[in-house]
Amino acid sequence: MTAAALGPRPLTLRADGPLAGTAAVPGDKSISHRALMFGALAVGETTIDGLLEGEDVHATAGALRAMGADIVRDDDGVWRVWGVGVGGLLQPATALDMGNSGTSTRLLMGLVASHPITATFVGDASLSARPMARVTTPLALMGARFAASPGDRLPLTMTGRCPAVPLRYVLPVASAQVKSAVLLAGLNTPGRTVVVEAHATRDHSERMLRGFGAEVTIEATAKGRVIGVLGEAELRPQRLTVPGDISSAAFPIVAALIVPGSRVTLTGVGVNPTRDGLLRVLAMMGADIALANHREVGGEPVADLIVTAGDLTGIDVPPEISPSMIDEYPALFVAAAFAHGSTTMRGIDELRVKESDRIATMAAGLAACGVAVEELPDGLIVHGRGGDPVPGGATVAARLDHRIAMSFAVLGLRAARPVTVDDAAPVATSFPGFVELMMGLGVYRPV
Ligand code: S3P
Repeated sequence: MTAAALGPRPLTLRADGPLAGTAAVPGDKSISHRALMFGALAVGETTIDGLLEGEDVHATAGALRAMGADIVRDDDGVWRVWGVGVGGLLQPATALDMGNSGTSTRLLMGLVASHPITATFVGDASLSARPMARVTTPLALMGARFAASPGDRLPLTMTGRCPAVPLRYVLPVASAQVKSAVLLAGLNTPGRTVVVEAHATRDHSERMLRGFGAEVTIEATAKGRVIGVLGEAELRPQRLTVPGDISSAAFPIVAALIVPGSRVTLTGVGVNPTRDGLLRVLAMMGADIALANHREVGGEPVADLIVTAGDLTGIDVPPEISPSMIDEYPALFVAAAFAHGSTTMRGIDELRVKESDRIATMAAGLAACGVAVEELPDGLIVHGRGGDPVPGGATVAARLDHRIAMSFAVLGLRAARPVTVDDAAPVATSFPGFVELMMGLGVYRPV
């Protein structure tokens, strides 16, 4: 059962003084999904250390078990996956419950597309409102058949095609989920399946597939990155370690920046250049974030981040940076609320089809807390308070969106009056232990 199924859980966080200390955020969500999926397609035992034990990743594990993989968690927290081999997924006996997780849904649809099986995908109210045509369109071109709910939404039943037809697909939206769905379908497809992306999106699939022994080619061309995978691949089991999730680190980072006097160290955070846009934008705003102890973990660059509070200045955020920080905009909106001057963020209409419409949800919550904002069709302008606290004194709607809930919990750390998130239960999808981690840095929950 998910945390959200137990009923709404309001959350208020406060800080009376600076945040201080060292913390490690949980494992990267994107990498955790992929580690389980590729392990399930390798023959033999894959071990995964540092897997994110959030509800979204559990949804992926549950679906892979239903399709034949053996997945267990040892007492020491290491996960073991015994895969079925590429082409070996079995027809699930019941519907696959994806909960709140778009990544589980879209990547698993890619896997099913080239297997001779039928699977039904269901999800919660948030996921059932999200568009799936972006994956069903290319996967149908490869031969899969779909019966979706109106608007190409869940519940959705699909039947894969084996052998599927290799595809060369130019991504119409900058989406790592769509790119990965097509590449994963390509794993069990004869010949080479190719995706062209005009703007580089997170490259965890490419990195990890290579690690598992798949033949992946990447070419930089005038039209963008051209990524190919050779089908009928054989994946070799791996021993993996998952780096800390920069998308989760975003919340303690912004908290440490906005609460005066704070200094916080976050260890082992993934700083893959296709994911580190938030760090670059905050640096442009004048934030003091030092990177130390650079190393490589599981084929991914990792560093410790030392965050020191200080003045921020509003900027025009370059739209082309958005794919490298697409999940971090809610946290950036909060940082912008404390900046000197206005911060303009455009070219981010993709935010409207995330776990909630993140432009509208954040605009409404910020306005309720006394922050002046202007909502644009493709973005948001936040008028910063020049370092002063926001008025606060509001209960904001998180709309089943973990990142909205955490954003407003952080905003409340520097609000004149408390800010309450109406329901923080969805935080368990990506950041179990969020409240405990923040309390370890010195924040508290008022009684
Ligand atoms: C993800 C890709 C992004 C991101 C999501 C995780 C992934 O989605 O928002 O949280 O793991 O591939 P899009 O591909 O829709 O941009």
